[in-house]
Amino acid sequence: MLSAEQNEMITRVGPGTPMGELFRHYWIPFLPSSDLETDGEPMRVRLLCEDLVAFRDSEGMVGLVAHACPHRGAPMLFARNEDCGLRCVYHGWKFHRSGQTVDMPAEPEQSRYKEKVRIKAYPCQERNGVVWAWMGKDAPPPLPHFEWNMTPPENVVVTFRVQECNWLQALEGEIDSAHAPILHGRADAGGFVNQWRAAADLRPTFECVRQDFGVSIASRRAGDEGSAYWRVNQFVLPFFTCVPPQSNFPELSGHAWMPIDDETTMAIMFSYVPNAPMYEKSRRVFLNGHKGRQAAHATRDVYEPKNRMSAFAKYWTKFNPDNAYHFNYSDQKSTYNSGLPGLWVQDAACQSGVAAIYDRTQEHLGVSDTGIVATRRMLLKLAADLRDKGQKPLRCDDPDLYMVRAISVRLPRDADWRSECKEYMRAEIGKGFGYEP
Ligand code: FES
Ligand SMILES: [Fe+2]
Repeated sequence: MLSAEQNEMITRVGPGTPMGELFRHYWIPFLPSSDLETDGEPMRVRLLCEDLVAFRDSEGMVGLVAHACPHRGAPMLFARNEDCGLRCVYHGWKFHRSGQTVDMPAEPEQSRYKEKVRIKAYPCQERNGVVWAWMGKDAPPPLPHFEWNMTPPENVVVTFRVQECNWLQALEGEIDSAHAPILHGRADAGGFVNQWRAAADLRPTFECVRQDFGVSIASRRAGDEGSAYWRVNQFVLPFFTCVPPQSNFPELSGHAWMPIDDETTMAIMFSYVPNAPMYEKSRRVFLNGHKGRQAAHATRDVYEPKNRMSAFAKYWTKFNPDNAYHFNYSDQKSTYNSGLPGLWVQDAACQSGVAAIYDRTQEHLGVSDTGIVATRRMLLKLAADLRDKGQKPLRCDDPDLYMVRAISVRLPRDADWRSECKEYMRAEIGKGFGYEP
């Protein structure tokens, strides 16, 4: 349980909030590179409660500027993307991606006003098809070395979708190993999920280790023949999660839960095979679903675009709180434990809960929430240390900090997972799992 003050502090990420300031010490992924064409249409986005417009200029570089024109506030979504800048259509003020004003056609010819006015602009970098923004006051460090964003593109599937709840609710759902075989299981004991090893023991015990990168959350279940089955989920600062592989088609997956604002989250999901191309079957299921249902990723046909004025308009989906996520009571009785149509929809429906920002003064945490408690504690401490002492998170600007994997491994019953799994948890481009997932 959190106090009302703690719940406010941990969930809100706008400029000037403690958590918002913490997040502005990290690179923020927010869009597929393919969404932005050179001199093409700008796109409305919102990052950490800031209304912005992304575009690709004549030099092929991504710009990210305020949505409101600094003159008299016309929407920069309507701006002309031409000759290396965005030109507001209202009075023609033109801005370079650096934020510098380069033209004011309605001002006197000799005026130097344009040297004084700037549009808010954040630097962006791209790697392997993902655009990242730097919203910090400090000079940007190198992009973080996240393995999913560095392995060969044929090994990886990355999808984007909007989820209608606060980022922390979504993140907490994915570091919570106990829910998986229950929420995603089937009432009729058929199907893939019921074959998961984790389904054999629904009462895992938990151990958490605080790391410089975040928190390792290890769940231990009874395994066969006197073994222990360990699944280690990773919380990676500031809003990333990594989920261990399952045995049938072992891939690593996880999310960047990028806060669009306090009540909306961009769920950027990645799945990758560290040392081989993604299995064709998995890729097909991710992109097309399975027997009419959603799998872990949002399928190509699930999107219901909003008006272009909305942030991330094309990434809203047809499963949302307004239609109860297509919950089906008779399915629940006959087939699926949840009655919800597919993996990520089940997660989204439960994570989004009853309010975009859940009142955590009302919760009753159990033993299975150990990892959630450790994660919250770390986030609150880092935000408070930054606010009160000006202390930055340790090694946040070290790109190698983020080279970490989630793992699922069977060990002898009394083995120490920390020492046994250290090497498996270390990511390295091209390195295999090192164990039988
Ligand atoms: S409001 Fe943009 S140029 Fe006037
Ligand atoms: Fe889940």
